[in-house]
Formats: sequence, C-alpha cells, structure tokens
Amino acid sequence: MTSATPRVPIVGGNWKMNTTRAEAHALLRDLRARFDGLRGVEVVICPPAAWLGDAADLLGGSSLAVAAQNVYWEPKGAFTGEVSAPMLVGTAAAVLIGHSERRHVFGETDEDTNRKLRAVLDAGLRPVLAIGELREEAEGGRTEAVLRRQLTGAFEGFDALPPDLVVAYEPVWAIGTGLAATADDAQERCAMVRAILAERFDRTSADACRIQYGGSVNAGNAAGYAACPDVDGVLVGGASLDGASFEAICRAFVA
Ligand code: 13P
Repeated sequence: MTSATPRVPIVGGNWKMNTTRAEAHALLRDLRARFDGLRGVEVVICPPAAWLGDAADLLGGSSLAVAAQNVYWEPKGAFTGEVSAPMLVGTAAAVLIGHSERRHVFGETDEDTNRKLRAVLDAGLRPVLAIGELREEAEGGRTEAVLRRQLTGAFEGFDALPPDLVVAYEPVWAIGTGLAATADDAQERCAMVRAILAERFDRTSADACRIQYGGSVNAGNAAGYAACPDVDGVLVGGASLDGASFEAICRAFVA
C-alpha cells in the first residue's frame, strides 16, 4: 500500500445491456440479501438505465450503491434518448464514464469523456473513469502512451484530481474475452496509472485515488487481484450477473 490512508476496496458490477425487468428485480433482491451489511469493501451495482429507479428502490437503505453506466454532458434540452447527470441525482450515486464500449462501439472521444466528467462532478455524483488500451496498442508497446492520453484528455482543464473519483483500468483485449490480465500485469498497469496521476496532479491525491482492474474478472481470479497493492478493486461485467460469483469476487477484497 503506497498510501498513508488505506484505500477501501471498491468492486463494481457492470450489467451492461443485460436483464429483463423481472431478471433485474430478482438479481437486485438476491444481491441485497447477500451483501447487506458487508464491511471492508464498497460494492456498486451498475444496472441498465431502464432499471436505475428500480435499483435505487430495491437497494435503498442497504450498503449497496447504484451507479449509471453512462450519461450525457448537457443538463437538459433537445437530446432525444439521452440522460443527464442532474436527472441521475437521487437514483445513482456514481456514473461510469469512458467505458471501452462507449469509446469503441459508440465512438466517444477523450473530449466527450472530459465533458461527461465535468457534468458528473457538477451534479455532485462520483465518476468512475474507465480507461484501457486495445490489443494492438498493447502489442505495439503503446499501453503507457494510450493511458496517458486518455487520462490527460479526461482531465483537460482540471487543477486537481477530484477526491472521490475512481479510475477503472480495463484493457480492451481482456473485456468479455476470458483473457484476463495476470495479477502481475494488472498490478503493473494500475501502478502505471497511479504514476501518471501523480505526475499530472500530485503524489498525495494519486495515492488516495482508488484504481480498479476490469476485464474477465471471475470468482477464480479475483483473489489474485485483491493481493495487488495498487489494485483497489475490480469492475466486473459478465460475472456480476450471477449473485454467487459476484459475492465471491467482492468477498475476495475483504481483508
Ligand atoms: P467482463 O468482466 O465481462 O470482461 O467485462 C468487464 C467490463 O467491461 C466491466 O466494465
């Protein structure tokens, strides 16, 4: 642990565009029963936008937090289909920004990520900023340059690292492929992210910032990441749709 104050691990369950309403309700009830009162790890559930209100109702008063998977940067107006940060206040505590699927399926840029980051902070919500390199970038030895570019772009115009911000390092080649990064690689990359944050801002805020690994995390490999000093939690996709697997992953981070 490089920080003076220990970083509380944070585990997110990103459901992506999965679950019917009935499935979402069943999973939320199951998670509430499994997790309520669990200490030593912060657990954040990211359901599809359509179920955010249901999630807030079904998890209300529990130790589980709700996060949105995406947001638009304008507060309101003629933007059909979009959801603004002020609209999320009261249902979501946090918002995922810059997820690889937003970047690579929907063409979001670093500039978009910067706008979204500002909107989330203006609304008083916690950003979870996702970054990560493509396979060809990793193979071409460009990982550090890509992470630096994504972080620099997201923080364009920022004087300080927002204190509650979480960074999710998710190598694109590991997402949904079963090809999880080794714990050693995840540690190295999360430490790299922390070093870039220290360079861009300052050592103290970089040391206080929680950095997650994401990409094919499951009940079998979570303990390896939990043992890494710079990996402060994980962001889980597929395995977060199964209550027992997600519980095992979260419990791996309880000291
Ligand atoms: P998988 O865990 O399904 O690889 O997804 C990771 C992810 O994208 C979480 O945001």
